[in-house]
Amino acid sequence: MIETFVQASYIVAAFLFILALAGLSKHESAKFGNACGIAGMTLALLSTIILAADIGNAVGMAILLVAMVIGAAIGVWLALRVQMTGMPELIAMLHSFVGLAAVLVGFNSWFGTVWPQPMDAEIRQLHLIHNGEVFVGVFIGAVTLTGSIIAFLKLSAKMKSSPLSLPKHNLINLAAILVTIALGVWFVMSDTALPLVLMLVLALALGAHLVAAIGGGDMPVVVSMLNSYSGWAAAAAGFMLSNDLLIVTGALVGSSGAYLSFIMCKGMNRSFINVIAGGFGSDGAVTGETKDYGQHRETTATEVADLLKDAKSVVITPGYGMAVAQAQYPVADLTKKLREKGVDVRFGIHPVAGRLPGHMNVLLAEAKVPYDIVLEMDEVNDDLSDTDVVLVIGANDTVNPAAYDDPTSPIAGMPVLKVWDAGEVIVFKRSMNTGYAGVQNPLFFRDNTAMLFGDAKDRVEDIIKAL
Ligand code: TAP
Repeated sequence: MIETFVQASYIVAAFLFILALAGLSKHESAKFGNACGIAGMTLALLSTIILAADIGNAVGMAILLVAMVIGAAIGVWLALRVQMTGMPELIAMLHSFVGLAAVLVGFNSWFGTVWPQPMDAEIRQLHLIHNGEVFVGVFIGAVTLTGSIIAFLKLSAKMKSSPLSLPKHNLINLAAILVTIALGVWFVMSDTALPLVLMLVLALALGAHLVAAIGGGDMPVVVSMLNSYSGWAAAAAGFMLSNDLLIVTGALVGSSGAYLSFIMCKGMNRSFINVIAGGFGSDGAVTGETKDYGQHRETTATEVADLLKDAKSVVITPGYGMAVAQAQYPVADLTKKLREKGVDVRFGIHPVAGRLPGHMNVLLAEAKVPYDIVLEMDEVNDDLSDTDVVLVIGANDTVNPAAYDDPTSPIAGMPVLKVWDAGEVIVFKRSMNTGYAGVQNPLFFRDNTAMLFGDAKDRVEDIIKAL
């Protein structure tokens, strides 16, 4: 009876997790998605407690409850004090717990399972499969554990974010994977602890090395990749514990993390292997060949205000600089003022604008910009030719025409916002420095582009005053 109830609640919880993912894919339904996730997790926890109580192990039950209370207290404390900008490092840290749990479950499952002796052929087969599950679970868990700790240290600036570049580091990783496969065969066939322990040490080192070799700017892709690993680690733990909900939830996290990494790589026009190989990104200096694009034109806040007064349609394309300047509040204010004057204002958001997935969306939502005027790149690109003024606020690579028309550019082929099609383009930045990719932007030298130099927040406030 209890077993049937638990299985039924697992199905409902899995359904709620799917609804959570679907809800989180749109601004409007994100709160509903979160609520579904919370409901699913509460149901899963309650079912686990009911199942544990049914087994009748009082000590186990007490440990479970104490662990849950401590875990919940830490979770609530962290959630209350974390800033939006600190989210990626918190998530990286939480992934490390999933990795640790998978390692512990793996060892526990191997040491704790008692097999009938002597084994017949069928039991022997099950035993080999179980060993395989333990090995895979411990491997993914260990890589996730140390990889996430390094990601956390880099993101929280407790460790240098530049890529660690050991000689032949890709070869080291390949060798580690080949040795792991050999250890796996040894472990499954011999059923002894030594290869499992050796693999654990190797996997812990591999996880740390993989992430240490990746530059700070690529960390968001790494965090979503580790998110995916933590999902597969949880799914592996689900197989070991014969827990269907853990398998389903792990697979959901694993596949959604992998898909998010894919979207981010596509938005940056880079392959996943390229990100893992590391060493991309710049500190503002131009890399590679520098071309002479001619002279740029400067403008002032008053001139931009005049331009905006006469405009019928305005598109704002924010980027990393808006986050640095924390300009989202004056940008929201400017938007409100222009809309009150009857100007059609919309936002064009590039999939990898900023440094985190959804970075710009989160900032604009924080500043209470209405969701319905925040559009994705593909929704706004075709309308840019009919737009009077585009305000490029702290964006650079995501509006670089070289991605379209210069096959030799390092970002050739990256999908970008075609802001140059608009009547007038105003670029807000502090200097002629490059963006993340370290390539010069020919947009700045076009006839219909004017540069408004200075901190984006100050300049937007100046425009509001002039309006
Ligand atoms: P970027 O190309 O990085 O350019 C940002 C620009 O903002 C810089 O050129 C900088 O110019 C300007 N800026 C910085 N601080 C400013 C301030 N206080 N006021 C005004 N301007 C300021 O930004 P983007 O267009 O958003 O592109 C994002 C880049 O990051 C892409 O190359 C993308 O591939 C990469 N990336 C994205 C992600 C995700 S998931 N979003 C993850 C990893 C990497 P000045 O220094 O002259 O002011």
